[in-house]
Amino acid sequence: MILSIESSCDDSSIAITEIDSKKLLFHKKISQELEHSKYGGVVPELASRLHLEALPKILEETKPFFKNLKAIAVTNAPGLSVTLNEGVMMAKALSVSLNLPLIGVNHLIGHIYSVFIEKDVIDNIMILLVSGGHTKVLEMKGGYTNITELATTIDDSFGESFDKVAKMLNLEYPGGPIIEKMALNGNENKIQFPIPLRQSSEIKFSYSGLKNAVRLAIESGEYSKEDIAASFQKAAITHLMMKLKKLFKTKIPTNFAIVGGASANLKLRDELQKMAEKYRFNLIYPELKYCSDNAAMIGRIAVDMYKNKDFSNLDLEVKARVEF
Ligand code: KG4
Ligand code: ZN
Repeated sequence: MILSIESSCDDSSIAITEIDSKKLLFHKKISQELEHSKYGGVVPELASRLHLEALPKILEETKPFFKNLKAIAVTNAPGLSVTLNEGVMMAKALSVSLNLPLIGVNHLIGHIYSVFIEKDVIDNIMILLVSGGHTKVLEMKGGYTNITELATTIDDSFGESFDKVAKMLNLEYPGGPIIEKMALNGNENKIQFPIPLRQSSEIKFSYSGLKNAVRLAIESGEYSKEDIAASFQKAAITHLMMKLKKLFKTKIPTNFAIVGGASANLKLRDELQKMAEKYRFNLIYPELKYCSDNAAMIGRIAVDMYKNKDFSNLDLEVKARVEF
């Protein structure tokens, strides 16, 4: 079995995954959303202190598995350095005391593997990763060692833009689910927000211009929060779809996964479903409980890394950013 730890942002989570069967034997997560919500975003120092409290509590519950462990896996990048440190320190201490190899996991690859929890990996897959820190289209061929980035954002990420719009509307953090719910009671055609990079032939994303357009609409005082939420969400998703269509002109995937915290957005899933029917690809998404950060996905990728003996030394570092 592998014990995996996730603490890259505001979720403290630990999982136990059986290596041969890939079965998830234990999984627990303590979220800090309530503590951060009044600040309109994650406060790194507070997050780090809360991990220090939550991680040992969850770890205690995994003690019965200790004798069967073969490795300790931990997210070491990307994320908030001070919160990554909490998980990495715990993982190193466990690796030393239980005399087990250490596996440093890239959180973004962890998100990709959220669709393979208790399952085999699909050999050839295109992925839309939409989280609080990232908006990327990736392609994975033959597993985690061969991942190529096809597109990324030049400024804010998709999830982050929902958080920022929520903050401007005096709503709580995280903004994604709140905006999505509020949009259900609004008219998405009320405000014609500019679709980012509409004229550009380049396949890249941008959300800062849209965010500013939303700010101006709020300041005008002419629109209801519901109409702003619905019209913003429509523009944010249309931007993703337009760029994906551009990409599919050169490359149509056989399998397409949408992962990351914002992959929970049902309107986004609906639009991708329409694309899947049009381009005839197999659309895959994680179970809702594995969309946001969790250690189950970290444990799943760690199984494949363990099989490759892809181990880290005790000098494993945390990194706020990673490149593909
Ligand atoms: O993957 P995740 O839990 O953490 C990071 O790795 O960033 O993603 C969190 C992000 C937040 O920005 C949150 O607002 C967004 O995902 N999110 C959503 C929805 N649920 C979460 N964005 C849009 N619609 C949603 N339903
Ligand atoms: Zn994440």
